[in-house]
Amino acid sequence: MKKRKLITVAIDSPAAAGAGTQAKLIAKYYNLIHLDTGRIYRFIGKTSLDAPKKISYNYLKKKIKSLKIKDLKNKNLLSDKVATAASIIAKEKKIRSLVHKFQQRYAYSPPLKYSGSVLDGRDITSIQMKDATFKFYITANIKVRAMRRYKEYKALKKKISYKQVLKSLKNRDKSDKNRKYGPLKKTKDSILINTTKLSRKRCFEKIKVIMDKKIKA
Ligand code: C5P
Repeated sequence: MKKRKLITVAIDSPAAAGAGTQAKLIAKYYNLIHLDTGRIYRFIGKTSLDAPKKISYNYLKKKIKSLKIKDLKNKNLLSDKVATAASIIAKEKKIRSLVHKFQQRYAYSPPLKYSGSVLDGRDITSIQMKDATFKFYITANIKVRAMRRYKEYKALKKKISYKQVLKSLKNRDKSDKNRKYGPLKKTKDSILINTTKLSRKRCFEKIKVIMDKKIKA
C-alpha cells in the first residue's frame, strides 16, 4: 500500500498563548485533523479529581483506550482546578506514555478525509512529532496570557480573579518547563511566534505565509 503523504503540524506553547486558536485555524484552512493534547491531560486530571480514591494505572489505561475526541470537548475540562490537576499528573512518565499512544494515532493516521494533522501541546515538537512538516513555538507575555485566560473564564462564568489566573499560569509554566519528562521547550527547528501584540488574524496570516511557501514549493 502506498504511504499517505500527510501535512503534519506540531505546535508547542505555554498556557493561553493562543496556540489552540491558531491550531484550529490551521486545521480548518488546510483540512487537517486537530488534537488539542492538553485536553487529554485535563481529562485525566478531571477523572482523578472526581474519583473517590486514587485511580489505578490500569483504570486510566482503559479510559484512554476508549477515549474519543468528543469526550475532550467537554466544557467541564476548562476550569483552572482541572488545568492544575492536569499539569501535576502530566509529570508522570507512565501517564505520558499512555497519552503518547493516543496522540500518535491522530498525528500519523488521521481519518482519510483529512490531508494531515495538527497537534498542539507542550512536547509535540520535541517528542511527539519530531519529523513534522511544520513546527511552531507560540508564546506571549505572561500578563497578556493571564488577561486572555481571565476573559475566557469570565465568559464561562467562572469565579476567579485576574491575580489568581496569573499565579496559576506562572506555577504551570514553571512546572511544565522544569519537569523531567516531556518538558516544554523551544526546539531549534521550531519557528518562534510571539502573539503578545498580534491579533488572531495577523498571527494566522503569518503562519499561512510560512506554510504556503513550503507547500507550494
Ligand atoms: O494546554 P493546556 O493548558 O490545556 O494543558 C494542560 C496541562 O497539560 C499543561 O499545563 C501541561 O502540564 C499538560 N500538557 C502536557 N503535554 C502536552 C499538553 C499538555 O504535559 N502535550
